Amino acid sequence: MSERFVYLNGSYMPISKASVSVLDRGFLFGDGVYEVIPVFGSKLLRVDGHLQRLATSLERISLDNPFSEAEWKQKFDQLLDCNPGDDRAIYLQITRGVYPIRDLKIQPGIEPTVFMMTLNVEPVDLDVLEKGIETVTIEDFRWSACDIKSTSLVANVMLRQQATQYGVVDAVLIKQGMVTEGTASNIFIVKNDTLITPPTSKHLLPGITRDLVLELANDNEISTEVREIAATELRDADEVWLTSSTREIAPVVRLNDKVVGSGKAGPLWHKMINIYQEYKQQLRQG
Ligand code: PDD
Repeated sequence: MSERFVYLNGSYMPISKASVSVLDRGFLFGDGVYEVIPVFGSKLLRVDGHLQRLATSLERISLDNPFSEAEWKQKFDQLLDCNPGDDRAIYLQITRGVYPIRDLKIQPGIEPTVFMMTLNVEPVDLDVLEKGIETVTIEDFRWSACDIKSTSLVANVMLRQQATQYGVVDAVLIKQGMVTEGTASNIFIVKNDTLITPPTSKHLLPGITRDLVLELANDNEISTEVREIAATELRDADEVWLTSSTREIAPVVRLNDKVVGSGKAGPLWHKMINIYQEYKQQLRQG
């Protein structure tokens, strides 16, 4: 297999040639933001939404956006041209760059470090996805800036590790008795044929897949509610889903050793996954 080409600070190069300074603030402080944008064929899923969220994340950490939307899109096309493939994702991250000394204070006039690579994404196997995932609830001890897609992910790593130690693939995070999200995904529950997800806030990432699922539900006359979900509601939910760019829509079939609904992917999940696959197919075909 030929070597992957990545983008680093203005150049495209083989991944083995790409390196950054140990003084980069991304390395020292996790001082940066990132995006993961799914690609189907050569079409980017919801690229404007991802670029809008990137702009918001940058603004929240007081870092100037290095490129206009048109420039970003041109760079994405170039990166995809260098890395032929079908279904993939673009990973991009921007850090505050390299300072001469290790100092938290932000200095003006320093170039950010901009890095992009493609990620191999296995095409979603609906038979596997349908089997669902097992999860546990874990106390969400993260900070009150979870709406920023920050590269500082050590808390998410710790929470995912706790889930692994329980022998399950992910955690449903609970803050002050309320459901927030997964360790790298948003959450939906289904109750009496209504799809429910918590509102965006400082406690969760405004997921692009979450937005798309809500939009597709509304277009297809599926009733939706955006409201806080108490942790106690999880026990009686008919269905629970986790959504993200890489996981798409994963049905949760077990939560804290108790089956969710019938213990299988539920009827609304089947309906929504078909709508979602159809949406992707239309995108692929332009
Ligand atoms: N994560 N919440 C968190 C904490 C996330 O890290 C993600 C995505 C989401 C879902 O967002 P979206 O639908 O835009 O992918 C919610 C990406 C995929 C990652 O970190 O790899």
